[in-house]
Amino acid sequence: MGIPQPTFYIFKCEQSAPPGFPKPSCVSANNPESQQLFQHLAQKLMEKGIIAAVQPVRTGCLNRCQLGPVMLVEPGHYMYVGLDKEKIDRIIEEHIIGGNPVQEYLIPKEYWDEPMSIADVIKMAGGA
Ligand code: FES
Repeated sequence: MGIPQPTFYIFKCEQSAPPGFPKPSCVSANNPESQQLFQHLAQKLMEKGIIAAVQPVRTGCLNRCQLGPVMLVEPGHYMYVGLDKEKIDRIIEEHIIGGNPVQEYLIPKEYWDEPMSIADVIKMAGGA
């Protein structure tokens, strides 16, 4: 038997901006809790005994900075926004363990519309 794939990947945006930088970022000195969220996520997955099947990944900017802290749960393109520790706990319980995404923490549709068609993107770029 081969090595099984993870069931989920959780891409946590760990981008930080320097103090005083005007653009918002998911990890910020203005929000000390934001600096602890990845650790908290990994810790919870370990406590629940599911870290072998649910891989947390530190990632760079996911381009929804104004709604941060954000994380993307795959499969399914579930983008969670405005995160804190309590919200992460609930996402682990209800979405990851329970199979029901937490609707009220998901990104609003106007910031996360249907994926673009690659054929259209190539056309717009003037490619073949
Ligand atoms: S800094 Fe996290 S989405 Fe841009």
